[in-house]
Amino acid sequence: MLSAERIMQRCDALARHSELPGGLTRVFLSPQNRAANELVLGWMREAGMQARVDAIGNVVGRYEGEKQPCLMLGSHLDTVRDAGRYDGMLGVITAIECVAALAEQSKRLPFAIEVLGFGDEEGVRFGTSMLGSRGVSGTLDPAVLNTRDAHGVSIAEALRQFGLDGSRLAQVARKKGEVLAYAELHIEQGPVLEAEGLSVGVVSAINGFSRPRATLHGEAGHAGTVPMHQRRDALAAAAECVLAVERIAQSDAALVGTVGRLEVKPGAINVIPGEVQFTIDFRAPRDTLRQEAVRSAVDAVQEIASKRRLTAAIEKIQELGVTACAPRLIEQLERAVAAQGLHVRRLPSGAGHDGQAIQAIADVAMLFVRCKGGVSHSPAESITEADAGVGARTLLSFIERFEPRS
Ligand code: GLV
Ligand code: MN
Ligand code: MN
Repeated sequence: MLSAERIMQRCDALARHSELPGGLTRVFLSPQNRAANELVLGWMREAGMQARVDAIGNVVGRYEGEKQPCLMLGSHLDTVRDAGRYDGMLGVITAIECVAALAEQSKRLPFAIEVLGFGDEEGVRFGTSMLGSRGVSGTLDPAVLNTRDAHGVSIAEALRQFGLDGSRLAQVARKKGEVLAYAELHIEQGPVLEAEGLSVGVVSAINGFSRPRATLHGEAGHAGTVPMHQRRDALAAAAECVLAVERIAQSDAALVGTVGRLEVKPGAINVIPGEVQFTIDFRAPRDTLRQEAVRSAVDAVQEIASKRRLTAAIEKIQELGVTACAPRLIEQLERAVAAQGLHVRRLPSGAGHDGQAIQAIADVAMLFVRCKGGVSHSPAESITEADAGVGARTLLSFIERFEPRS
C-alpha cells in the first residue's frame, strides 16, 4: 500500500546526507551524493526493481513489464546550496513508492517502469545543469565532461573518482522508442496551488531558460590612492549590469531574470575590483521573449562596460527551450487527478526540470504537488504528508491506466 508517511520519512533520510551541517547541500558526485545513491538503490531493490548507477551517475531502477519499452519516472537527487528536502527527491521517492505498491500486488503492466534518480539537475557543482538527464537523452556533448568545478576538477575526473567511466557516456543514452513517456512528480515551487486550495496540478509546459555569463575586465588598484574619476572598477560596472538585467526582466510580466552569482577579483577590502564574472538566468514561457531579453542584456553589458572604459566578454553557458508537455499525457494525468475526486488545474512551470532534456527522446508530463507558501530553493521548503499522499495516489493511478498511444 502507498505510504505517505514513508515518503516523508525517506525525504528526511535523504536530507541527512548533506555537506552543510544543520542544512542541506548535496552536489553532484560528492560523498553525500554517493550516500544518497546507496539509500535510493536499497529502496529500489526493496520495491522489486533491478537497480544500478549508470555511467553519468544516475540511479536507475527497473521494474519489468510484459514488454520491453518503459514508462520513465523520476526526478533528481542533487540539491541547490542550503536547499529544501523535497525539490527533486520527492519525485524519485514517490515513484519508488508507486512501484512498491505494484510489486506488493505482484502486478505487472504491459510496459516496464524505470525510475531515474538523476545525479545532477541543479548544476551547482559544475555550473552547467541537467547533466544526468542530458546523458539519458543523448544530448550531453562529451566535451562538456571537460567542464571544471571551483577546485579545478573536471566532470570526467569527478566521475572517475566516483568509480564511473565517462567514456561510456554513449551507453547511457536512450533511443526514441525505448521510452514510451517520461512523467515527473515535483513540488510546485510556486504559490498557485496553495492560493487555490489544491493539492496537485498538472503542468502544461516548462519555461525555457538562457544562461549567459559575463566577465568584466577593468583595472585593479589601491582603494586609498586612485581618484574616483580615474577608476575602472569592474564591480561598480557589474552593479549597473545587475540593475540592467532587473530592468529588462521587468519589461514583460512573463519574463524573469536573475543574477545569482558574482565573483569579484581580487576580492579584498582595500583593492579596487579589477575583474568580475557574473551569471545571468532568464526564463520565459516563450522562446522569442527570452532570446530577446538575452540580446538586450548583452547590449546593456557592452554599453555599460564601454561607458566605464572596461571590456566585457559574454559567453553562453546553457540554454534550453520551452518544453510543452504532451497533450495526450496531460489528459491522462488530468484523468488521474479527477479519479481522486479533485479539481483539475493546469499550470505552467517557471522552474526548470529534467523533462526539458528528456523531451529529446520522449513525450513529457509533470504533476505538481503544493508546497507551503510557494517557497523552494530554501530550507523553508515544506509540504504536508497529506499532499504527498495525494500526489502518490494520483501518480499511481496515472501509471496503472497509462496508455502508451492514444
Ligand atoms: C532548477 O531548479 C531550476 O529551475 O533552476
Ligand atoms: Mn531546484
Ligand atoms: Mn527540481
